[in-house]
Amino acid sequence: MSSPARSLVMALAKGRLTDDILDYLGRAGIPLPAGDAGRKLILESADGSVRYIMAKPADVPTYVEYGAADLGICGLDVLREAKRDVYEPLLLPFGYCRLSLAGLGTRPDTPLRYESQPRVATSFPNLTAEFFRQRGVNAEIITLKGSVELAPLVGLADLIVDLVESGNTLRANGLVEFRTILKSQAVLIANRAAYRLQSDAIRSIIARLRQVNQQPIPATTLS
Ligand code: PRP
Repeated sequence: MSSPARSLVMALAKGRLTDDILDYLGRAGIPLPAGDAGRKLILESADGSVRYIMAKPADVPTYVEYGAADLGICGLDVLREAKRDVYEPLLLPFGYCRLSLAGLGTRPDTPLRYESQPRVATSFPNLTAEFFRQRGVNAEIITLKGSVELAPLVGLADLIVDLVESGNTLRANGLVEFRTILKSQAVLIANRAAYRLQSDAIRSIIARLRQVNQQPIPATTLS
């Protein structure tokens, strides 16, 4: 007697991306979490075919690399920062933002290479360190968990590296963007072993998401 097929496990980034992810999965005809999520961290689809893990965005690649989830959806920003060994079968058309170097608008326009040991606040220490290393600048990286824009305003840092979407947070705090370090958008990731084994469930989900990717965006979602 064959054992019943186990649910496919998908780790989703909780927060800003969640609504867009669920909308996209819905358009792809993938069974969505049933009922009211509330504070629950594990949600099942009504038919039991998909189990969703609601994780902090930066942790999604970790769940997928270790096989606690077969698939995951997060931003390229946290994926590149986490440096996890996962497969990236598909970029998804939402969650667009950029990781940028920014600072006070009143700052003198000094080329980075002439700056001696700038203090840089960020929630992306790996990508920030790499950016400065590649330019031969000896930066002191200060890691913060959020509201990074505060750092130059109170003298904690000379510069910040943070995500910019509309630019409103920078503008509201008198900060300006100097460089784009990484362009980001949502990405589907897969555990390497699970992808290689290509269970029917994984293959079917990737194929359905690919199909929506190729469809024009419905007029109602265009701004
Ligand atoms: C993110 C990011 C910026 C802001 C950018 O923060 O870190 O602060 O959004 O968006 P904008 O360009 O549209 O203003 P989030 O609100 O996720 O919280 P956090 O600062 O605690 O990370």
